[in-house]
Amino acid sequence: MLDKAYVSKIMATTKAFKMGKYKSFDKAIAMMFLENSTRTKFSFELAAKRLGLHVLNFDASKSSFAKSETFVDTLHNLYFIGISAVVVRSGDNGLLERTRAQLKYPIKLVDAGEGTTSHPSQALLDYETMLDKMGTVAGKKIVIAGDIKHSRVAKSNVKLLKQFGADIHLCAPPGLDYDIDATWHSRLIDAIKGADVVMMLRMQYERHAQAGETCDLSDDFRLTSEKLEKYAPNAILMHPGPVNRDMEISSELLDSPKGVTILEQAQNGTVVRMAILQEALLC
Ligand code: CP
Repeated sequence: MLDKAYVSKIMATTKAFKMGKYKSFDKAIAMMFLENSTRTKFSFELAAKRLGLHVLNFDASKSSFAKSETFVDTLHNLYFIGISAVVVRSGDNGLLERTRAQLKYPIKLVDAGEGTTSHPSQALLDYETMLDKMGTVAGKKIVIAGDIKHSRVAKSNVKLLKQFGADIHLCAPPGLDYDIDATWHSRLIDAIKGADVVMMLRMQYERHAQAGETCDLSDDFRLTSEKLEKYAPNAILMHPGPVNRDMEISSELLDSPKGVTILEQAQNGTVVRMAILQEALLC
């Protein structure tokens, strides 16, 4: 997942889809969101419908999970019912890899964000947004700042962007850094100096609470129009969403023209996820 050949293929399919070139599938997929989502769930669902797929929503609380059925047994049954692929969001790091190793039938699993480790479809739509704006990421200074430790978005983005020659700079508040090979900064204003892209990350308070951690974001880590204008006036502002207003980004910056790119990321989500679903169903 997210190797250079796969990413290039998804980008090429996305380009064709943006020109309206796509075919319909007579297949069914299931959406299994075991963690909350707005952007990813709705864009995968709309993407599937645009591809002519039958979409079934799996409600874990009303399912036989409540009767102790295992994830693998559930998937085997869904396959025999007629489901070709399942789009899965989960908080369980490594769930999809472990499950793929146990599956006896060829039901496809599509990662819609897993724990703190991977969110490949987000990295792909982020890459598409950067290509839309800059044509390439090679040699571009891309800053990812915020709660890196808990961010599956940061980890998938770094993995993808490195392969295409991006100059990656990371910045996290104390205690929210992670062992990723990149140029690290302890101060946001040092990180963003001369940046081409500044991607802010959500403070994941729900994961802090689960781990018994406490971390309040100081003003130093909050991006404002003043800081962006002073240190990176030409930078593209990105954020995977959902945004904690006035936490990692000030409301005045979010509501300024710079904030529109964040909505364009969500817009790219639908078409990129069409490409992801097509690839999953064809291969
Ligand atoms: N960026 C993202 O994954 O948003 P959702 O949690 O709303 O899907």
